[in-house]
Amino acid sequence: MAKRLVDLRAEAVEELVKINNIKDLDSWKIRFLGKKSKLAQILHSLAKLPIEERREVGAQANKVKMALESSLAEKRNTLQEASLLSSLQQDKLDVTLPGRPVSSGHIHPITQTLEEISDILRNMGFQIVEGPDVEWDYYNFEALNIPQWHPARDMFASLWIDTSGKDSRLLRTHTSPTQIRVMEKTRPPIRVIAPGRVYRYEATDATHESMFYQIEGLAIDKNVTMANLKDTLFELCYSLFGKEIRIRFRCDYFPFVEPGVEVAIECLSCHGSGCRICNYSGWLEILGAGMVHPDVLRRANINPDIYSGFAFGLGIERIPMLRYGVDDIRLFYRNDLRFLQQF
Ligand code: PHE
Repeated sequence: MAKRLVDLRAEAVEELVKINNIKDLDSWKIRFLGKKSKLAQILHSLAKLPIEERREVGAQANKVKMALESSLAEKRNTLQEASLLSSLQQDKLDVTLPGRPVSSGHIHPITQTLEEISDILRNMGFQIVEGPDVEWDYYNFEALNIPQWHPARDMFASLWIDTSGKDSRLLRTHTSPTQIRVMEKTRPPIRVIAPGRVYRYEATDATHESMFYQIEGLAIDKNVTMANLKDTLFELCYSLFGKEIRIRFRCDYFPFVEPGVEVAIECLSCHGSGCRICNYSGWLEILGAGMVHPDVLRRANINPDIYSGFAFGLGIERIPMLRYGVDDIRLFYRNDLRFLQQF
């Protein structure tokens, strides 16, 4: 029995040395230390031996078992280390390589312009407010002196959401409805600007988009006059285009102002002599404005005998187009980084 144990140990060790992967190691374990191994059989048969022999052989068998178990653990360690080492060598990582550049985004040219104009007007004391893009017929038209039958509705090719009479809703065609929302909620003195998106049902081309931006301005107080409007708008143009710019102020018609004006600046490209950009007129129209119509004030419960006000609405896209010589408004909304990264 003792000899069998010695042989068994020698055989196991000899086999173990040959092993070079975990899978073979597992079968080795089953073969030499498993439930059906020779060692297990020996341990099992101990019970049948006389007590003297049992003690001696038992001790020896246990020694063999422990020796094999510790050899197994050692071998497993060696194999695991070797496999880790080889996988590290295969997936080599060069930590000295330069990183991939992460390009940081920046502010869209239209947003930059909106922020610049808002800053100028904020410094004059205007407060920023916002209105919804989806607007009621009432705010977009009715309250602005444009009833259902009014031909001025044709000035605004509208995108309707539903057209059920008084409750009709549309994508606002201008930022002027914000005027009414502010007048309803606030008492004069009022001095606000409302930047935002507006929508028109129009075929797009180099100078027309179906969605674009405006900034609305509204000031209401006692003794507000056309001179205040003119001063505010001239100041805004000087800040945007420089003190040298020539500005034209002339009559125009909008149902919600009286009198109404249209403001143009001298063409930045030809300085007034006439070119393709200004349609050979020398002038570029940039905004509509006027004194708030007494009926509009009255409808919002502001007494026109005590208060007066001015309003203006400025298109945004025109300004970066003129400044940077962008000849197609659609470029702003195509998300082409080659274009946008220039600003
Ligand atoms: N809302 C007008 C437009 O979009 C512009 C405007 C605003 C005119 C305020 C007068 C006063 O054409």
